[in-house]
Amino acid sequence: MVNKPWWQTTTIYQVYPRSFKDSNNDGIGDIRGIISKLDYIKDLGFETIWISPFFSSPQADWGYDVSDYYGITPEYGDRTDVEELIRAVHQRGMRILFDLVMNHTSIEHPWFQESRNSRDNPKRDWYIWRSGRGNRPPNNWMAIPGGSGWHYDKRTDQWYYASFLPFQPDLNYYNSEVKSAMFDVARYWLNKGVDGFRLDIFHSIFKDNQFRNNPSTFRYLPTDDLSSGWFQKWDYNLNRPEAIVLAKELREIVDDSNPEGLLIGEVYGSDEKIKSYLGDRNDGLNMVFLWKLDKLEICARFFRNVLLEYEAQYPLPYTPVFVYGNHDLRRLFSKIGPDVRFAKILALYQFTVRGVPVTYYGEEIGMLDGNFSARNARDPMGARFSWIPDILVNKLGFYINRDGCRTPMQWDNTDNAGFCSADAQPWLPVHQDYESINVKSELACPDSILNVYKGLLHLRRENTVLREGTLDILDEADGSHNLLAYRRNYKHESVLVVINFSDRAREFKNVTKCKRVLFTVGMDKQGNPEEFDFPPYSGVILGDSW
Ligand code: NOJ
Repeated sequence: MVNKPWWQTTTIYQVYPRSFKDSNNDGIGDIRGIISKLDYIKDLGFETIWISPFFSSPQADWGYDVSDYYGITPEYGDRTDVEELIRAVHQRGMRILFDLVMNHTSIEHPWFQESRNSRDNPKRDWYIWRSGRGNRPPNNWMAIPGGSGWHYDKRTDQWYYASFLPFQPDLNYYNSEVKSAMFDVARYWLNKGVDGFRLDIFHSIFKDNQFRNNPSTFRYLPTDDLSSGWFQKWDYNLNRPEAIVLAKELREIVDDSNPEGLLIGEVYGSDEKIKSYLGDRNDGLNMVFLWKLDKLEICARFFRNVLLEYEAQYPLPYTPVFVYGNHDLRRLFSKIGPDVRFAKILALYQFTVRGVPVTYYGEEIGMLDGNFSARNARDPMGARFSWIPDILVNKLGFYINRDGCRTPMQWDNTDNAGFCSADAQPWLPVHQDYESINVKSELACPDSILNVYKGLLHLRRENTVLREGTLDILDEADGSHNLLAYRRNYKHESVLVVINFSDRAREFKNVTKCKRVLFTVGMDKQGNPEEFDFPPYSGVILGDSW
């Protein structure tokens, strides 16, 4: 019996609509394409789909620059297609999340077009406008990707603020009309049946209303928690207390339309800041993405520390989110080698820990980053920073041209990998490895990464202990031998997971009562459950019920 709300035990698959499946052979993925692949996602075992934005947009940031929150970009389809998508997801017993870009609109949104017209336009205050200090911007706030966040508009001789790129002006949430306009958007899609939203850069939604300068630091490169960078502490433009209040208001809006609705925030900051968005009584966002797995190391100590930290910081009823990649990050398989054995043990970890795993499309087949020079980037971030020499980018470990992780999904080994027909021109080139790395051939190979994902997802669906249990880390495997062992516990049942992160064989004496092998990765199912011999990079799941 399932006791927890669905979102606490779900598994999420992220679809980047432009790159997933093209149904009309214009080289651009679309909504009908996604519908045609829902059975694939369902058969894999995922329970929830999050779709990056497909709303009307000039596509300057591929949909993260919305010009009409109620419209659909024609190359992706129309509203009937979206309604059909929601229905088709629900018919399969799955859930669907949309991507709500509340922080900013496109510069082409009619709201901004009006706002920039004159200083006394009724929509002027919908965005953040200020006079400069002489020729200089109103204050020292930097945009998240670098450079001043302020942009001069000579029509009215004032500056507008954009947390991200200049064509993405920030909305002013101190203005109650803005808030209610955006709440209407949320209500509209909830009433159409969506199960919740992923919230884009929610931590930047409020800026200090006194416009105080950020204090300086010596830190140039952004810190991992993005609390400072570009020589300043981002005290006044990010993670403002008003954002927490907005999270709670949004929660109420969602609850009114769909009491089971999910809000998952893209938020950066210290654990303490992140937690404040969740509310102390589960009255804020349901979850936020956690980023510790982005810069991973293949060793037990790393993965153990992540568990220790998430368990300490996000104990029940909080739900940690385990994510290796998304449309802004280098692909997992490129980060780890690429080594098929690593991909499998990482999946074993991700689907057996306590929390919600999020998989970026293609991760399940070990898709690799496309290798593109930033000079011809289609990604606006790549284009903006194309002047930085590749050698420096690689040395600093930056990921600047996001085209790499957005290449078309590799469905089969035909030309264009089954993403679009052979004679169409995909919007980004298909990765050259598509003949060996693709869904069709991996489905046919029992030992593929894809089949490990499938096996794990199906086991997790059926196993209440893995879905709902608490987690404790076993000290016997304290990471020193590169073994990680943890137990999930639910009522009187337990499941034990042991993973060998070492390049050597390891022994593990199993003193727990979990002796029934449920799943193995990189090793035979027939072993001695009392004493395991783990080959390099392998793992096992053991249950205690028969
Ligand atoms: C974060 C999104 O994930 C990214 O793709 C986008 O460019 C920025 N927010 C701006 O919306």
